[in-house]
Amino acid sequence: MLPWCRTLVCMMASSGSFLALMNTQNKLRTLVPNFTFNLGFSGKFYHTGTDEEDEGDDMLLKHRKEFWWFPHMWSHMQPHLFHNVTVLAEQMKLNKQFALEHGIPTDLGYAVAPHHSGVYPVHAQLYEAWKAVWGIQVTSTEEYPHLRPARYRRGFIHNGIMVLPRQTCGLFTHTIFYNEYPGGSKELDKSIRGGELFLTVLLNPISIFMTHLSNYGNDRLGLYTFESLVKFVQCWTNLRLQTLPPIQLAKKYFEIFSQEKNPLWQNPCDDKRHKDIWSKEKTCDRLPKFLIVGPQKTGTTAVHFFLSMHPAVTSNFPSPSTYEEIQFFNGLNYHKGIDWYMEFFPIPSNASTDFMFEKSANYFDTEVVPRRSAALLPRAKIIAILINPADRAYSWYQHQRAHNDPVALNYTFYQIISAGPQAPQELHNLQNRCLNPGLYSTHLERWLMYYPSGQVLVVDGQELRQSPASIMENIQRFLGVTPLFNYTQALKFDEAKGFWCQVLEGGKTKCLGKSKGRKYPDMDSSSRMFLADFYREHNIELSKLMNKFGQPLPTWLREELQNSSWS
Ligand code: A3P
Repeated sequence: MLPWCRTLVCMMASSGSFLALMNTQNKLRTLVPNFTFNLGFSGKFYHTGTDEEDEGDDMLLKHRKEFWWFPHMWSHMQPHLFHNVTVLAEQMKLNKQFALEHGIPTDLGYAVAPHHSGVYPVHAQLYEAWKAVWGIQVTSTEEYPHLRPARYRRGFIHNGIMVLPRQTCGLFTHTIFYNEYPGGSKELDKSIRGGELFLTVLLNPISIFMTHLSNYGNDRLGLYTFESLVKFVQCWTNLRLQTLPPIQLAKKYFEIFSQEKNPLWQNPCDDKRHKDIWSKEKTCDRLPKFLIVGPQKTGTTAVHFFLSMHPAVTSNFPSPSTYEEIQFFNGLNYHKGIDWYMEFFPIPSNASTDFMFEKSANYFDTEVVPRRSAALLPRAKIIAILINPADRAYSWYQHQRAHNDPVALNYTFYQIISAGPQAPQELHNLQNRCLNPGLYSTHLERWLMYYPSGQVLVVDGQELRQSPASIMENIQRFLGVTPLFNYTQALKFDEAKGFWCQVLEGGKTKCLGKSKGRKYPDMDSSSRMFLADFYREHNIELSKLMNKFGQPLPTWLREELQNSSWS
C-alpha cells in the first residue's frame, strides 16, 4: 500500500503547439491516471497569430473536450487595473461569450488572473466579478503570503473563493531551449532529479504548476520536465500521483490544511511584488498608525474623544453596525478584507504627520487580534487602558443592566461573579464577560508576543479619570505626534457630569454621552473581596510583566498589591 497520494495539475495559456501538448498529455496519462491539462484562454487573441499558430488555435478548439479549461482575462489585462467592478465584469463577459461561441466548457469553477494580479493582495473587485460572471470557486497564486520562500506558500479562502498555493516549476516564457537554460541545462536536470522541483512535489501533497505554451514548442521543455519529474518521483519514492479537477482539488486541500482557510492579511506595501500589483487607486497610507485596543469599560471612549480633539490625529469614520467601532480584527469583519477596512479611513493629506487610529475595545482580550493586527500593522503603536479589573467587571455589569439585559437585571453582581459550575449558562456568559477581559496579564502577554514592548503603552485608567491632561501628554509623547496639544486648557472638570469634558468656545463643556460615566451604587464589599481574591495572582503577574518591559505600574495596581500583601 502506498502511504500518500500526490495530486499534480498543470496549467497553460492557449495557442499553438497542439500536437506536442496532446502528446505530453497522453504520455503523462500513462504515468498519472487521468492526467489532464487545464488550459487558460484569453479570447481576444484567438486567430491573431501566424497562419501556423491560427491553425494550432483551431486544433485546440477542435479537441477542446480532451482538456479542462479556465478563463484568463479577455485581453490578458491585470484585474487590479480595473477599479470599477462593472467594467471588470464586462471584460470577463467578453471572454465568456467567446467560450460559449466556441463550445469551451465554462463550468469548472476555476480561474487564474494574469500575472497574479488581484488575487493576493486581494482586489475585492476581482473576486466579485469572478463570482458574478463565471461562478468561480477556485483560483491559485504564488504570492500568498509571499513568493519566497516558496515552501511557505499557503492557501486561504476569501469571499467564497478558495485560493490555492501555486508552485514554481522553473519553466517560464523565456526558458524555451534546453542548452540555454539559465545556469546551464544541468540546473534544470538537478532541479528535476532530487532538487527543488522534486522536493516541491515531495513536500506538498498538492502541487499546482503553470507553464506556457512556448514550453511545449521549441525544445518542448514542458514535456521533458514533467515526464522526467514523474518518472523520477515514481522511481525513487512510493508516492502515487493523481489529478483532480479544480473544485475537488481545492476541497481536498482545505480538508488537509483546514487551519489555512482563514487568511492573514498583510500590508501590500511591505512586499515589492505585492505593491506592484496593488491598485494605484489604493494607498497603504489609509491604515491606522495606532490602535486603542481596550478593554471595554476602562475609559476607551474618553481617550478616543480627547485624541480626536488633536489637529494631527484622525479617527476612523464611524461604523453604524458596531457602535461606531470598526471591530475589524476580532470577528467576521476581518473576512471582508483590507479594502473594506481601509474604506473607514480618509486619505491623509500628509501621511507622515497625520496620525490615523481606530479604537475597538474588544481587541484587547480577543485571542486572534494581536496576530492579525501585527500582520497588517507591524509598526502600529498599541494603547491599552487598564483600571482595577474589579471595577471594570462591575462597570460591565452596570452597562448590561442599563441595556436591560435580563440576566444582569435578575441577578446581583455577587451572584454573577461567584456563580459556580452548576449555574445556568446565561449566568456564565455574563460572568465571562465581566471577568475575562480583566485577566490583564494573559492578554497583555499575548500582545507582547507580536509587538515589541516599545510599541505598547499601558495607560492608567484611574489617572485618566482623575487627571486626563497629564495622561494625554504621555500618550502624545508615546505616539510622537506633533505639535503637543495642551489638554490642560482644552479639558475641564464638569461638576454635573462628575468627569472631565471638552471646553467649548464660550466656556461651555461637551461631555461624553449618558452611557459613559454612569451613576450607580458603589460595589458591595463581598463582591470587592471576592474579586480582590480572584484577580490577586493575575495582578501580581501584571506587575511583573510591566516591570519587565519597564513601564510604571498604574496607581490602582500598586494599591491593590499593597492591600493584598496586608490581607
Ligand atoms: P462607567 O460608566 O462605569 O463609569 P469605555 O468608554 O471604555 O466603555 O469606558 C467607560 C468608562 O470610562 C466609564 O465607566 C467611566 O468611568 C470612564 N471614564 C473615564 N474618563 C471619562 C470621562 N471623561 N467621561 C466619561 N467617562 C469616563
